[in-house]
Amino acid sequence: MKILITGGAGFIGSHVVRLFVNTYPNYTIYNLDKLTYAGNLANLKDIESKPNYKFIKGDIVDAEFINKLFSEHKFNAVIHLAAESHVDRSITNPLEFVYTNVIGTVNLLNAAKTIYKEDISAFKLFYHVSTDEVYGSLGETGMFLETTAYDPHSPYSASKASSDHFVRAYHDTYGLPALISNCSNNYGPNHFPEKLIPLCISNIKNNKPLPIYGKGENIRDWLYVIDHARAIDTIFHKAKAGSTYNIGGHNEWTNIDVIKLLCKIMDRKLNRAEGTNEKLITYVKDRAGHDLRYAIDSTKLQNDLGWKPSLQFEEGLEKTVDWYLTNEEWLNHVTSGDYQKYYEQQYVKR
Ligand code: NAD
Ligand code: DAU
Repeated sequence: MKILITGGAGFIGSHVVRLFVNTYPNYTIYNLDKLTYAGNLANLKDIESKPNYKFIKGDIVDAEFINKLFSEHKFNAVIHLAAESHVDRSITNPLEFVYTNVIGTVNLLNAAKTIYKEDISAFKLFYHVSTDEVYGSLGETGMFLETTAYDPHSPYSASKASSDHFVRAYHDTYGLPALISNCSNNYGPNHFPEKLIPLCISNIKNNKPLPIYGKGENIRDWLYVIDHARAIDTIFHKAKAGSTYNIGGHNEWTNIDVIKLLCKIMDRKLNRAEGTNEKLITYVKDRAGHDLRYAIDSTKLQNDLGWKPSLQFEEGLEKTVDWYLTNEEWLNHVTSGDYQKYYEQQYVKR
């Protein structure tokens, strides 16, 4: 099996690549990544010399390059994670999200369709990794089901919703074996420090303000990133083409409660008096179109395929803080941007 994983140098992608490379030595894992600001090959240092791992630097928006790549390697499956992933960036530069998330996905679908039509028994699956944000925002009650109607509000979620529709259209129109999973908010090691949890870990460490949008009452459903990677593995191997699975932790928290818990954990880890870090909390202007509440019902995945989250949030958050405190160099590189130039020199675009 030759599996192409896109966006494998990013946060979730790097955990998926590691899990597949280590668990399936008989698969060859090709990690295709443009290495944008969010891509970092240092995330994969521990597996980069494994014989079943290959890195390819490239842009999914470049159709000619993608077609050539598929024609050369005849992948048996694709797990597609490459995306622009930050809501705030999508508000300032929506077009970049259309290019990567919509056009990039359609380029991959076209290339997959071509090799699938050439040999329908060889191409097994196009697995599209999506988000719960496509379902929009919940009120105080209810949860997102696989059947919930799409209602995206940010340019990011609109671009992901669009890519999901294209994936289903390629399945229904061309018979491409494809499926989608929609996951809630991930947290854990290697999370880029522009997102709420790693940003606040980094700011607490450096005694900087912790910016909380609005009143901090928005609710997210947090899942440890390795549990998401495990869910992707389960779905990849067990689910039927044409299906959709929701992935989530049944773990809803208001933003302010997450940050207060983080402050408490880091008071202890940094030997600061209790309550010290909470003083850094600063309420700032709300995000435009800020979704109030996300909550995923992952019963279908749990009942049909036997997956469940392995970690409680408090335990996962402790592990995450420990990772950031022991990987200071990673954090410094990411925030300085130096790593980009360093790795840029090692790989050339094919
Ligand atoms: P990330 O921003 O950390 O990583 C994205 C990766 O994609 C980076 O390595 C980047 O270099 C690469 N990339 C970006 N544009 C590219 C292009 N044009 N060509 C090739 N590579 C490109 O993102 P993440 O948080 O790891 O999210 C991964 C996927 O999971 C995304 O599709 C996202 O929508 C989805 N998702 C994320 C979450 C979450 O909480 N982070 C939750 C549910 C779903
Ligand atoms: O739900 C899944 C989604 O989760 C993924 O599809 C996205 O790729 C991922 O970025 C994430 O989106 P969010 O917008 O929920 O994550 P973020 O970490 O940006 O924000 C989490 C919450 O915290 C949200 O309600 C906004 C708030 N926030 C965020 C930042 C960066 C703040 O209050 N202050 C901040 O500085």
